Amino acid sequence: MSDFYSLTIDKISRLTPNAVAVSFAIPKELENKFIFEAGQYITIKHKINGEEVRRAYSISSSPEEKYITIGIKKVPEGRFSSYANTTLNEGDQLLVMPPEGRFVYKNSPEQENICAFAAGSGITPIMSIARTVLKSHPENTFVLVYGNQNKSETMFLDEILELENDYKDRFTVQFVYSRAREDDSLFGRIDTSVINFVLKNKFKETRFKTFYLCGPEDMINITRDTLKANGIASDSVYYELFTTTDNDPSETISPEGKTTVEVLLDDEVHSFIMDKKSTVLDAVLDEDLDAPYSCQGGVCSTCIARITEGEAKMDKNQILTDSEIAEGLVLTCQAHPVTSTLKVDYDDV
Ligand code: FES
Repeated sequence: MSDFYSLTIDKISRLTPNAVAVSFAIPKELENKFIFEAGQYITIKHKINGEEVRRAYSISSSPEEKYITIGIKKVPEGRFSSYANTTLNEGDQLLVMPPEGRFVYKNSPEQENICAFAAGSGITPIMSIARTVLKSHPENTFVLVYGNQNKSETMFLDEILELENDYKDRFTVQFVYSRAREDDSLFGRIDTSVINFVLKNKFKETRFKTFYLCGPEDMINITRDTLKANGIASDSVYYELFTTTDNDPSETISPEGKTTVEVLLDDEVHSFIMDKKSTVLDAVLDEDLDAPYSCQGGVCSTCIARITEGEAKMDKNQILTDSEIAEGLVLTCQAHPVTSTLKVDYDDV
């Protein structure tokens, strides 16, 4: 189910003192498996000091390009991101799961003006979407509002300036810096005043049809709320969290007792008994089943399964819609059984 393929790193380029772009060459025989849509991510599995780590990274290249490129920003305590920034070399091989993810460019048959808000490494999938729109949809325009601490921490800065130069009439970027004052950039974070400035002042003549948001949870929430306050319908706004605030322990579900679980994975049924305090994914992995997962934090959506009998409740969910939950879909890394029996189907999602 969670199939990984060995890919060779073709190129590593430094984006900032703390971030690299890693490009994989896709061999002919894997081309079909690694077809992707702009905005999707890949999951990497690697052993560091004998311990397996899995991490999801968004693709920054566009689907028409020859390589799959991801951006990896070093994060505090981030084992793989530190490793990628210091130890990984061109020519190394990594195990990679084919692209997935629901935060994708929604190609419309009509002309559209698109606006994206990105902060920090949240720029990565937005780069893929912007490149795709600019290259393949000549009727569309794209405004990027991009927040960082300062210029030197701005991932893909050169590529963005190149896009601005190549697509002068169709692409505009508004940089926002929280720790530096620069000409033509706004000072602060992406907040209500920045968003209102973009919508009501700088681009007041533009009717944006679609919005893409990617970054930390606080930025996403404030942007969604401000767009809503500006009368923008929620179905025009697509977003992806890059980090979430920690679970509020008072909101974490901790039911008592045990559940008999039946898991369908790769056409095989596995039965076991689990503690309701555990998440379904943790229990499945404890049984040594090869279920798909990546972030284990409710951010990526790799671990989705369908509950076909019984009930499970999620600690946190920013990905599944109400109708998907009503259909039985859950993020298994967030789901605890609340009934005495539970059937979980990883195959039919
Ligand atoms: S593993 Fe990423 S959402 Fe569950």
